[in-house]
Amino acid sequence: MDLDRMLEKCLAGQWRISELDWDRTPPPMSRKKEEEVVQYFTDMAGIERIAAALFEEQAARAKDPRLKAIFKTFVDDELRHARAAELLAEHYNVNKYRVYRQSESLHHFAYHFINALRHLSAEVATVYVTVGELLLDVALLRSIDCFVDDPMSSEVMTRINRDESRHIAMDFYMTEYYASDAYQEELARQPKKSLRDELAAWYAFGQTMRHARPFLKAIFLDPMSEIDPEGERILEAFSRYQNLIERPNVSKRPLPATILRTQRLASYRPTKKIADRFAHMIGLPAQMLDPSLLEKRAIRQRTQPGRVEAKLA
Ligand SMILES: [Fe+2]
Ligand SMILES: [Fe+2]
Repeated sequence: MDLDRMLEKCLAGQWRISELDWDRTPPPMSRKKEEEVVQYFTDMAGIERIAAALFEEQAARAKDPRLKAIFKTFVDDELRHARAAELLAEHYNVNKYRVYRQSESLHHFAYHFINALRHLSAEVATVYVTVGELLLDVALLRSIDCFVDDPMSSEVMTRINRDESRHIAMDFYMTEYYASDAYQEELARQPKKSLRDELAAWYAFGQTMRHARPFLKAIFLDPMSEIDPEGERILEAFSRYQNLIERPNVSKRPLPATILRTQRLASYRPTKKIADRFAHMIGLPAQMLDPSLLEKRAIRQRTQPGRVEAKLA
């Protein structure tokens, strides 16, 4: 990737919330739908703020000044997405049926996740960032937009999606970089972690995993079962990530190799339970192990090659 060009694109792609016309009247909705929509956007604001904190961390770690500058624009993007989500929640909160708060599980998870990322290696952090961006920042948001089905939301989402394609491109680039020989050499030159740091890292990781399931259930799985009942977008996000970790260089790295091995275990009935438990331990969403997703992806690749990539590009 040409990082200079990417940085130019990131700077040129900045937009302002005030560009949009927020004064239009929202369409009539049932009470149930209005409450769901406002809650989704309220939680979305929280997710976007977590994403901003993640890129803040990436920017702090980046050595190349262009990388640093790119990640800084991502922080701005995610903060803008968070603000846009808050405004959308306000926009659709026509009847003020109740007070909306971000899910408790989001706060707990965010606190521990951001703390854990500071301890994890940049390579491992990137695995979680990439999965998170594909599932939450792309699949979930697109599903919410389809569910709301209104130009105000669509115009915001079109802009957000443009930003997200740059984020995903960089997530993939970083994943490839961490799989490269150049990075392995850099890693070998780094001093070994002290036992204290090692223990702190494991503690932070364990705490994150403890809070990952309730968070994913409240923020992702429950809404997705309502707004993406066919599981189309989960399949798209899953396929996209699967294509990345199956690349020859990436598939040899410890975490992608572990994911692939765990998926293999999950495909056999006798070892499925062990795979599920292990996935729980490493914070892998259960969907990543679903053999039916792997089958559906294979069928789709045969019958409609390129479709998945085109839809999420
Ligand atoms: Fe975002
Ligand atoms: Fe993002």
